[in-house]
Amino acid sequence: GIAGGTNALAATASSGATASDSLAFDPDAYTEITTTISTDDGDKEVTYHFWSAITYVTDPVDETYQSLTVSVPVSIDGTAVDATDAPILVSNSIGGYLPSSVSSATGVSSSRAQLAIAAGYVAVEPGARGRTLVDSSGDYYGTAPAAIVDLKAAIRYVRYNAGTIPGDTDKIVTAGTSAGGALSALLGASGGSSLYDDYLSALGAADADDVVYATGAWCPITDLENADGAYEWNWGSNTLSSGEEVDQDVSADLTALFETYQSGLGLTADDYGTITADNLDDYLLATYLEPAATSYLADLSDDDRTTYLSSNTFLTWDGSSATFSWSDYLDHVGSRGKDAPAFDAFDLSAGENNEFGVDTTEARHFTDYSLANDTSGTGGTSLDSDIPGKLDMMNPMYFIGESNEDRARYWWIRTGTKDTDTALTVVGNLALSLENLGDDVNALMYWDAAHGADEDPGDFITWIGDVTG
Ligand code: DHB
Repeated sequence: GIAGGTNALAATASSGATASDSLAFDPDAYTEITTTISTDDGDKEVTYHFWSAITYVTDPVDETYQSLTVSVPVSIDGTAVDATDAPILVSNSIGGYLPSSVSSATGVSSSRAQLAIAAGYVAVEPGARGRTLVDSSGDYYGTAPAAIVDLKAAIRYVRYNAGTIPGDTDKIVTAGTSAGGALSALLGASGGSSLYDDYLSALGAADADDVVYATGAWCPITDLENADGAYEWNWGSNTLSSGEEVDQDVSADLTALFETYQSGLGLTADDYGTITADNLDDYLLATYLEPAATSYLADLSDDDRTTYLSSNTFLTWDGSSATFSWSDYLDHVGSRGKDAPAFDAFDLSAGENNEFGVDTTEARHFTDYSLANDTSGTGGTSLDSDIPGKLDMMNPMYFIGESNEDRARYWWIRTGTKDTDTALTVVGNLALSLENLGDDVNALMYWDAAHGADEDPGDFITWIGDVTG
């Protein structure tokens, strides 16, 4: 960098960082880039300052992953913008709980971050360790809770540099899709928790808190220890793409476990009272599925709507709204994407088994049910003692269940109605549990959309402005 004395002093005065400190953000160490970004308002020519991979902890395990980029707009369509007090979007690109690196990024990467800078916001794109990383002694160093610890370290880095890093560190908004959506939701739900402190200290994370203001989560693959049961409750009657049924005894056992779990959540909704496994289908249908179909059909041309309705006769359209039954909806979705159990596989073959690996053990069970039905031959008789604590550290529902006071209070939650990577109940329960706490929740589903869909990216950017304004 080319930091001058004036900037170094300014840094000392206004933030926790000091000039000699390796976690001090260097405000001058950027390159200036001009690019065209396509938005809902047409193409915008955005000139921005780009800070390439900055290691966000003092004692990284692997800098390839434990680094972040910063992108700050300075002019949009030729008009200067001042992002000093703009919201900061922390947008991860994690998928599959796999390692995610920005170490070779040469500019703003994800389309979500691009839209953010085109709206005048600051975009931070963090990398994080992931489940497949293994060192030369065979140790898995990216399994749970590594990814969330790294993302929290990134948030702490940003807040630590308040005043020198552009943007308002009181207005940090997280975003991610799928595993990245799960981790974004977890950042929002677990803000300020001390559960991760030992892990963060070991990395030399910045001395600042990791509270975030608002959270966006698309198709979050979360609530993992309850997701096998949720999956069977939701998709248990759907066949695999091969046309085969999953083991119906396993499906029934898991469904029964989910019924207990769902009642135990004690969630309530207007017109339904307590949401149990018995009224959850009606609730999801009326709250998400029918509105999704309605808005999809309303946006079609008359011809396209007529065509859609004639090939989807399960759906009734009265001219302004769509109605149908839960079982017809399940038929419409067709095959399920995953076998039973979907997440804690009996043979330890699921990605989530690897996510709960430890030391030199690549994959482990994280539910009693799958442990009891282990076919890998490496089971043991009880879950390893670190598993319950790690499940909590990976599950936003744990922190919501504790009514964590430091959680984000603004939530943007989305998923597709044809996403069978997990149960729809995961989004339904995440959103409803936050609503029950009184948070501001903007949740909807995209009709007929598959895993990973984001059909209203511009609306999310507008929403950030609304909730932070
Ligand atoms: C993702 C998808 C999955 O089906 C899963 O189990 C975990 C993560 C993903 O796309 O990130």
